[in-house]
Amino acid sequence: MSTAKKVRRIGVLTGGGDAPGLNAVIRAVVKAAIREYGLSVVGFLNGFGGLIKNQARELTEQDVVGILPRGGTILGTTNRDNPFHYPVIKGGKKEFVDVSDRIFENISIHGVDALIIIGGDGSLAIAKELYEKGLPVVGVPKTIDNDLQATDQTFGFDTALTTATEALDKLHTTAESHHRVMVLEVMGRYAGWIALAAGIAGGADVILIPEIPYRIEKVIEKISQREVQGKKFSIIVVAEGARPVGGEMVVQRKVEDSFDPIRLGGIGQVVAQQVEEATGKETRVTVLGHLQRGGSPTAYDRILATRYGTGAVQLVMEGRFGHMVSLKGTSIVAVPLAEVTGRIRTVPLDSDLLRTARQLGICLGD
Ligand code: F6P
Repeated sequence: MSTAKKVRRIGVLTGGGDAPGLNAVIRAVVKAAIREYGLSVVGFLNGFGGLIKNQARELTEQDVVGILPRGGTILGTTNRDNPFHYPVIKGGKKEFVDVSDRIFENISIHGVDALIIIGGDGSLAIAKELYEKGLPVVGVPKTIDNDLQATDQTFGFDTALTTATEALDKLHTTAESHHRVMVLEVMGRYAGWIALAAGIAGGADVILIPEIPYRIEKVIEKISQREVQGKKFSIIVVAEGARPVGGEMVVQRKVEDSFDPIRLGGIGQVVAQQVEEATGKETRVTVLGHLQRGGSPTAYDRILATRYGTGAVQLVMEGRFGHMVSLKGTSIVAVPLAEVTGRIRTVPLDSDLLRTARQLGICLGD
C-alpha cells in the first residue's frame, strides 16, 4: 500500500486495556476527519481482533454524539489478538501464527487509506510492525500507567490519579477515626507513576513503587515514629509492581495470549501483614483495581485526548505515518513509533516528584 496515496477514508481502533478518554479521542478523530478534511471514518471493533476478523462499523458525527464524558470505548478493546502472534488450533493443539496479511485484506475491503491506532506499549508495538510491513499508521498514546516513552503524559493517567487520590482522601478519614494503618494498592504495572503522584496528592505517609525496592523495616520505622508523635494512623500507598529489596513482584495471574501475560497484584496484603505483625496496629488493605480504569475522564484527560485525536488526523493528512502524537511540554508533536516501543518509561530516580516526596518526609521504603 503506497503511503503517498491521497487519504479519503481513515480507520480507527482502540487496543489494550481501556483508559478514560478513549471515547474523547474517537470523537475528536471523527469530528476533525469529517469537518476539517471531508474524510469518512470506519471504526474497527475490539482492538486488533476487529481488523483480523473484519468487524467494523462506519463512524459518523451522529455516532459520537454524547461520548466525550463517557468512560470505556464505544469500539470495544482487548489486550489479546496480536496479528503477528495469533493463536489457532491445529490438530487439537494451540499454535501461534502470523495473520497480519488479513489486516491488509480487510483494510482494502473497507477502502481505508490510513489507520489510527490508540493504544499502550503492546498495541503501539504492533502498530510499528504493521507500519514496517507497509500499513500507513499513526499512533495515539493511551494508558492509565503513564509508562510510555517519548511522551510527557498519556491520556487516562490523570483520571486514574484522581480516582486514587479520592480513595486516599476517603481512607484518611476512616483511618484517623479508627487509629488504623490503611494500605492502598494501586495499578501501574512496572511503573510507579500512579502510586507516587496519588501518594503526594493524597498526603500518604509511605509510598512504595517498583523503581525503589523497599525495606519493610523502613516502613515500620515510619509508622512507629508517627505513633510517637501522637499520629495514631498512617496511610501507605503501594504500587502493584512494588517489591522488597532482593524480592520479586507479586504475580496475581497469567492471562494467556495477552500482549503481556503477567497480571500483578497482592503486594498490598503482603505489606499490610508485615506492618500489622511488627507494629501491633490494625492494618487494612484496599485494592483499587479496575476502578482506576473506569468512569468519566477528568477535564484534563478530555482535553489531552481531544488534542491527541485532532493531532492524529493532522499527522495522517501530512502523511507522517509511523509516528505517534505526543505531549512535549505544552505542545502536541509527532515522534517516531520506533522511539516509543521496546521499553517502558519508569519514574527516574532523580525525578522532581521523588525529591518532593522526600522533602515532605514521605517514606519511600529505602
Ligand atoms: O496497563 C493498564 C493496567 O490497568 C495496569 O495498570 C494493570 O496492571 C493491567 O492493566 C491490568 O490488566 P487487566 O485489565 O487485564 O487485568
